[in-house]
Amino acid sequence: MDRGALLYEGKAKQVYASSEPNRVILHFKDDATAFNGVKMASIGDKGRINTAMTMHLFDRLAAAGIRHHVVRQLGPTDLLCERVEIIGVEVVVRNRVAGSFAKRYGIEEGRVLPEPLVEFFVKSDSLDDPLVTEDAAVMLGLASRWELAYLRHAGLEINDHLIRFWGEHNIDLIDFKVEFGRHEGRIVLADEITADGARLWERGTGRKLDKDVFRRDLADLGDTYRDLYQRVFGKALG
Ligand SMILES: Nc1ncnc2c1ncn2[C@@H]1O[C@H](COP(=O)(O)OP(=O)(O)OP(=O)(O)O)[C@@H](O)[C@H]1O
Ligand SMILES: [Mg+2]
Repeated sequence: MDRGALLYEGKAKQVYASSEPNRVILHFKDDATAFNGVKMASIGDKGRINTAMTMHLFDRLAAAGIRHHVVRQLGPTDLLCERVEIIGVEVVVRNRVAGSFAKRYGIEEGRVLPEPLVEFFVKSDSLDDPLVTEDAAVMLGLASRWELAYLRHAGLEINDHLIRFWGEHNIDLIDFKVEFGRHEGRIVLADEITADGARLWERGTGRKLDKDVFRRDLADLGDTYRDLYQRVFGKALG
């Protein structure tokens, strides 16, 4: 299936019309950005790796009964997806202290949280994705009470599966962000799950295998993502 009109250009992906009116083509670019687009680079293979990773993790979650938006993979960097109404609340699940949580509360990174924590953020580049309470999210009309309860529950369930998945690869899942969409009266997991929106630390060494490598100039992001691909798929990226 060929890509139709470009509907939306994001920082890491493009959304195209497909030949089916209720479906879109999600194209993963090689672009990496950090600090809301302040830092940018093109990382060879990133689009292919993130497409493969999203497809693999979504397949795994679907096998556990979690609904998502992907219909099928069309090519190395393209996924055919149901066109959903993206919910304007990003769902972050944290197992350990890191990133903005560490900064906000003045805690060192790495501390294990007593239980997984769900946080909601407003999906808004112009506002820098601020943290939002459930009450405020309802007042702002971003989601209803039951939707937020569902997002929280789904976030924790996805976390359980992803902890197990990454654990099989000797990697600790520190935190991750997911987006959901409304589709035919249901809420489905949408967008992507990749190392762009997660923190993945090698068990034992704490070596970072995620986009923090780019944010903090720790190593080459392309090399890091190719290494991650090799660990997950058991072979080098072709
Ligand atoms: N099935 C879908 N239907 C419609 N839109 C989708 C779907 N899946 C993902 N999207 C949206 O497509 C866009 C993907 O682009 P990208 O992830 O690069 O955006 P971004 O730069 O992170 O910015 P933002 O997510 O704030 O729009 C996102 O806005 C995402 O919410
Ligand atoms: Mg995005």
